[in-house]
Amino acid sequence: MRTECEYLVIGSGIAGLSFALRAAEHGRVTIVTKRSRTDSATNWAQGGIAAVLDPDDTTDAHVSDTLGTGGGLSHEKVVEMVITEGPKRVLELMELGAEFSKNEAGELDLTMEGGHSARRVIHAGDITGREVQRALVAAANEHPQITIHEEHMAVDLIETSRFGGPRQVSGAYVLHETTGEVHTLTAGATILAAGGAGKVYLYTSNPDVATGDGVAMAYRAGAELANMEFFQFHPTSLYHPKAGSFLISEALRGEGGILRRADGTAFMASHHEQKDLAPRDVVARAIDYEMKRSGADSVFLDMTHENGEFLAKRFSNIHARCMKYGIDMRTEPIPVVPAAHYMCGGVVVDQDGRSSLPGLWAIGEVTCSGLHGANRLASNSLLEGLVYGYRAANALAAGNELVSAGSVPEWDVGSAIASNEEVVVSQNWDELRRFMWNYVGIVRTDKRLRRAARRIALLQEEIREYYWSHLVNRDMLELRNIADVAELIIMCALSRKESRGLHYTLDYPDVDATRFGADTVITRGAPPHVRGR
Ligand code: SIN
Repeated sequence: MRTECEYLVIGSGIAGLSFALRAAEHGRVTIVTKRSRTDSATNWAQGGIAAVLDPDDTTDAHVSDTLGTGGGLSHEKVVEMVITEGPKRVLELMELGAEFSKNEAGELDLTMEGGHSARRVIHAGDITGREVQRALVAAANEHPQITIHEEHMAVDLIETSRFGGPRQVSGAYVLHETTGEVHTLTAGATILAAGGAGKVYLYTSNPDVATGDGVAMAYRAGAELANMEFFQFHPTSLYHPKAGSFLISEALRGEGGILRRADGTAFMASHHEQKDLAPRDVVARAIDYEMKRSGADSVFLDMTHENGEFLAKRFSNIHARCMKYGIDMRTEPIPVVPAAHYMCGGVVVDQDGRSSLPGLWAIGEVTCSGLHGANRLASNSLLEGLVYGYRAANALAAGNELVSAGSVPEWDVGSAIASNEEVVVSQNWDELRRFMWNYVGIVRTDKRLRRAARRIALLQEEIREYYWSHLVNRDMLELRNIADVAELIIMCALSRKESRGLHYTLDYPDVDATRFGADTVITRGAPPHVRGR
């Protein structure tokens, strides 16, 4: 089946929905999302949205905090643009119906997070993302120009030079999961808003949908990617055998939380002058060091010195989840461990979300826009999604940039058969996520990275063989995508022979600004190289 779209959006988080609502003012938007319309990392965001909304705060201070955290790789012009435009986009989100927490005077309650020099994070209790997603989905549901297809997973982008056409992206092949059919969706503009890839690691704060689909598809199509070695690990996710992925928001440390060893001693003072509010990479490495040094399974986040009533109200979601596992944060410390949280690298885009391939646009976590550099400042990502969603839609409305599809062949199943060996998927899935955690995690070495490189090469061979001989299904596609993302992370990490931001290697513990003071750019078929912008 073939459908012609004007704007095809892949993903239904904050970036995709913000784009859709703006673009729908002048065109028809088709959104495909692989589970339900609310299954996104946005929906799981706890902390909030960083924006300068307090008269005592300044754009310069937010810019400086972002650049300071970015380890010298954030692009100053991009940072200035996002931080300057962000507050307007946040106010529009509120006009759309998103409700954020207010103080007793009825003003927005601004909270603090690591790396920020001021209280500037707006939030909806500790379920900010859920409120943002609710408001955006409600507006999109009612919009006559927006159609959302759930349970539709993009298999690959349609890059037309493969069929003798121009080098451009003209839509995507999309698996309709209920029927198992792959549809051909051509589009004037294809907007990747498919989020991150936390599932590439064994422990992650991300939802199951975060399998790097956007990055993997863009890479296979030949788009330029950058900085895949910079994967952010959140210092604190709940440690409990039954808890699965559950984030313990940085806002707890913003409200005075103290990290302690099992014997009750606080340890962050010996790692950084900002103690528990040090940048996230520092805190994650400190916890990793403390756990490895003592052999402990976790460290502890202590909130017991805070007012219990305040805690239960301000962090109602986290409190309820901890109580479910018998942990009362009002009276005992919470066991926590780091978890893969945010992909700072991705598809290289300009300030409007254009990728290096005509017809392909990208917004949100799937991108490397230049905002985060080597390390992301807490709560800057929802902001980025809002700003880029808006800018990409405006750029498309302003210019004559829609591509025409030309003749695109329908999906061909060839001689593929239904899989009778799903064990290939589960085996490779587990193996990959485990070696990525052990060898390509918070603290790296060349030796560990080379071990990971050997393993991914082997797995890729098996996965490719499996992919080409069987009919596609979601599990197989997700495995194929996380394997591509894993390979990209490993290649980029191996090429950066220094430690900077989120990439820390014992073999090169210092920053080498002369050789590595710029982005790691990678395109299919060529090794990663360092390039300034
Ligand atoms: C958190 O609530 O700690 C997450 C905030 C973020 O990752 O930006």
